Amino acid sequence: ISRRALLGTAGATGLVLGAAGGAAGYAAAPAPATPLTSLGSTRAMFHGKHQPGITEGFQARGHLVAFDLTAGAGRKEAAALLRRWSSTAERLMAGEAAPHDDTDVARDAGPSSLTITFGFGYGFFGKTGLDKQRPSALDPLPDFSSDHLDKSRSDGDLWVQIGADDALVAFHALRAIQKDAGGAARLRWQMNGFNRTPGATAHPMTARNLMGQLDGTRNPKPADSDFDRRIFVPASGEPAWMANGSYAVVRRIRMLLDDWEKLSVTAQEAVIGRRKSNGAPLSGGDETTPMDLEKTDAKGEYVVPLNAHARITRPDKNGGAAMLRRPFSYHDGFDANGTPDAGLLFVCWQADPLRGFVPVQRKLDRGDALSQFIRHEASGLFAVPGGAAQGEYVGQRLLE
Ligand code: HEM
Repeated sequence: ISRRALLGTAGATGLVLGAAGGAAGYAAAPAPATPLTSLGSTRAMFHGKHQPGITEGFQARGHLVAFDLTAGAGRKEAAALLRRWSSTAERLMAGEAAPHDDTDVARDAGPSSLTITFGFGYGFFGKTGLDKQRPSALDPLPDFSSDHLDKSRSDGDLWVQIGADDALVAFHALRAIQKDAGGAARLRWQMNGFNRTPGATAHPMTARNLMGQLDGTRNPKPADSDFDRRIFVPASGEPAWMANGSYAVVRRIRMLLDDWEKLSVTAQEAVIGRRKSNGAPLSGGDETTPMDLEKTDAKGEYVVPLNAHARITRPDKNGGAAMLRRPFSYHDGFDANGTPDAGLLFVCWQADPLRGFVPVQRKLDRGDALSQFIRHEASGLFAVPGGAAQGEYVGQRLLE
């Protein structure tokens, strides 16, 4: 089964789950050899030009985890760890048991679109004696004036992104990856996220975030002629071990939902510059209609306000800066006063953060209309090497 490439949309196969799930609910007993639903059997490939977990459609469940190498663990231990992690990822993504001491948590389920993606943080290179191989693109992100960053939940030597359309499959992978770390790396932080389950909507569509907006409409599409150039380091790029890799910026962005939800729908739409119901630009048309930034109303005012998020973030307003946004929503309960700790685990992918996230966030930091309703609480930047070829492990070209 081929890899899905339905960026920002629910899986086309999802309706099968709805039908099969409903039928199973009424059946007296499942037939002995009931085939997996297509949701369960959908499989992403571990080996390839790029790592999995970048261009696939949003998954229903996600875990983002960062590790630090332990004192005394260097290049040799890191290489052994990446070898273990790669072998686990390859097996789990094929729907097989973990190589050692499988926990049975994913037993009975298929791969369920599981992807496991590995990245290196700034600190990794010093600890492994590989400073000369550290890409300049991994230089720390600039401070932004609106940042409220919790350092204990930011950065990290190693980063793992796990996504799957089934919660147990995702947890199973998380636990296997943690156990594989052994004495080489210690967990630094972990964040759990979710997206809409494929099949919940009548047809595949752009996902909604916890503010209720369609989020992902203007994402670059793999079919775009400049997609690879914007998202992936070229095969001839520097450093050589990052060929076909990408840089992931991770931001835990809390949504100030109590304030946001007090706004009328019209006011919410002015914040983004798009209709909440269908994602259409305020200048008219449907979700895919190009936004007309010059259009004015009877009073001569711009229908897409000057500080609207979708106006400010446009590539043509940021020197061509573009990124692939592939987030998960999160909800970590409520603060003591009942305020929801919920928002976006914003993950964006680009060939160079200085031509993707950084210039756009600089602009947003000056205050777009959305800024007063969100707060960046954690941050990370990771170099995600290209995919492993058959017989190779992820990061081998750096570590051997
Ligand atoms: C567009 C929401 C943070 C970059 C959008 C859209 C929405 C949205 C609803 C319009 C639909 C679409 O094209 O996807 C949010 C929310 C955020 C957030 C709720 C925080 C919780 C950010 C951040 C960045 C960013 C931190 C980058 C620094 C973009 C870009 C676009 C966009 C590049 C598309 C612009 C275009 O190509 O026309 N966002 N956004 N967003 N956002 Fe955000």
